[in-house]
Amino acid sequence: MARKKLTAPAITAMKRSGERIAVLTAYDYMTARIIDGAGVDIILVGDSAAMVVLGHESTLPVTVDEMVMLTAAVVRAKSRALVVGDLPFMSYQADVGDAVRAAGRFVKDGGAQAVKLEGGVRVADKLRAVVDAGIPVMGHIGLTPQSVHEFGGYRVQGKDEEARDSLLRDARAVEEAGCFSVVLEAMPRELGRRITEMLSIPTIGIGAGPDCDGQVLVVNDILEYTEGRPARFVRIYADAGSVVEDAVGRYVADVKSGSYPSDEECY
Ligand code: KIV
Repeated sequence: MARKKLTAPAITAMKRSGERIAVLTAYDYMTARIIDGAGVDIILVGDSAAMVVLGHESTLPVTVDEMVMLTAAVVRAKSRALVVGDLPFMSYQADVGDAVRAAGRFVKDGGAQAVKLEGGVRVADKLRAVVDAGIPVMGHIGLTPQSVHEFGGYRVQGKDEEARDSLLRDARAVEEAGCFSVVLEAMPRELGRRITEMLSIPTIGIGAGPDCDGQVLVVNDILEYTEGRPARFVRIYADAGSVVEDAVGRYVADVKSGSYPSDEECY
């Protein structure tokens, strides 16, 4: 039986039905095929691609053209999951027109069904304008990596009362702007729970505790296909880095020794 394709309204409805939402990033065709088949509800073509695909030190350098190309590859692969494209740094911050045009490119050229923008109160007008253009928007508050320089590093947010109140205002602003869901990144679990209880749209946590309506992780992190120490909230499910290193090491050894190709591997 064909599996029902997920839409933004269907994701919002999962909060009401109490079904938790499984979200993972992907940036290429094959990975998207596998994780879609494995039952992920949302594939986020995150701007983390800047780091794990393109090798930049932060998410800031990736462009709309690069992100749209990756999004199109993921869209070609998926059959059930909702595909969300991540608007990169400076594609929407300056003005509302930029935001709508950038979001439009993800939908028209990339085939995304929704886009994600970072920020709450400060970008509420952009969130609303993209929603008004008929494009479903996922919000993203807390540790928003595009503001890494403002934060002075990748730090847990919402730790004192003032910061908590500000994040509660951001969460309200995202919902009021019409977003269909919101990512909560790196905040105390108690705050993740409060925001989840306060909002009628689903919260998707990444380092925001178990009470969020769903969870998102970077696919390279759960497969240990990355470099550096993983964040505390990452759970590693496989060691793909070692699998690839071992396979490539054996291939190189076979080529060097002349044992590849064998008679059966020749025409
Ligand atoms: O870019 C990204 O991968 C993200 C998520 C991890 C939320 O924004």
